[in-house]
Amino acid sequence: MEKRIGIIGSGQVGITLANGFHKHGYKVMIGTNDPEKHESIKEKTGGNAAIGSFSDTAGFADVLVLAVKGIAAEEAIKRAGIDLFKNKIILDTTNPIAEVPPTNGVISFFTTLEESLMERLQKLAPEARFVKCFSCVGNVLMIDPDLGGTIPTMFIAGNDDQAKQVTTDILTEIGWETEDMGKAEGARAIEPLCILWCIPGMLRGQWRHAFKLVR
Ligand SMILES: NC(=O)c1ccc[n+]([C@@H]2O[C@H](COP(=O)([O-])OP(=O)(O)OC[C@H]3O[C@@H](n4cnc5c(N)ncnc54)[C@H](OP(=O)(O)O)[C@@H]3O)[C@@H](O)[C@H]2O)c1
Repeated sequence: MEKRIGIIGSGQVGITLANGFHKHGYKVMIGTNDPEKHESIKEKTGGNAAIGSFSDTAGFADVLVLAVKGIAAEEAIKRAGIDLFKNKIILDTTNPIAEVPPTNGVISFFTTLEESLMERLQKLAPEARFVKCFSCVGNVLMIDPDLGGTIPTMFIAGNDDQAKQVTTDILTEIGWETEDMGKAEGARAIEPLCILWCIPGMLRGQWRHAFKLVR
């Protein structure tokens, strides 16, 4: 079966994943709603990804990555067209980072521990199959993470078991082990790991680390 993936969002995460999935043999489309960005996206992806709008990208593949600014994630889905997300598997990288400065290296979220951003997105597009993924690691380690031989752990969560299996297979292919943290509510625990992950970077400029579950 042809491997296709659509990446909604053209920031650092979108570009990194577009290049990484291309390297792993995927046909990739990357989505931006800003036509002025097309030329720079083409340069950053070496011409190896198709470029379209959020709607074009949502329609391009059965597996999508949502890689937009957390505060704009609901708007991005609405702009793409909620119907286009029906039955799609959506690897949700987004973090609900509030637009306020960090306090002693600790960033703030606009969500609460009783409702994650992914749950909000799942409510907005109930027929989409969201899987929280990639949210608590820096983009440079997302594909084939080189951590001195240690395979890091990606925590995932989502309501659809088949979507989580597809996600796990993709993660295995790109160098991760996966821990399933249950249904969509599991994102309430996964998303705040981003706050923890950022602290060494904010305080000491250290950004090259990932989580691993040990038993
Ligand atoms: N950077 C990392 O290493 C990292 C790691 C883990 C998770 N994340 C999470 O991944 C997501 C993407 O992060 P990023 O650093 O790649 O880039 P970002 O700057 O957070 O997001 C860039 C994308 O967001 C879209 N966007 C911004 N404002 C918008 C609005 N008002 N309406 C619709 N779309 C809007 C942009 O659309 P246009 O293309 O149309 O301008 C662009 O494609 C974020 O939620 C972030 O928290 C980031």
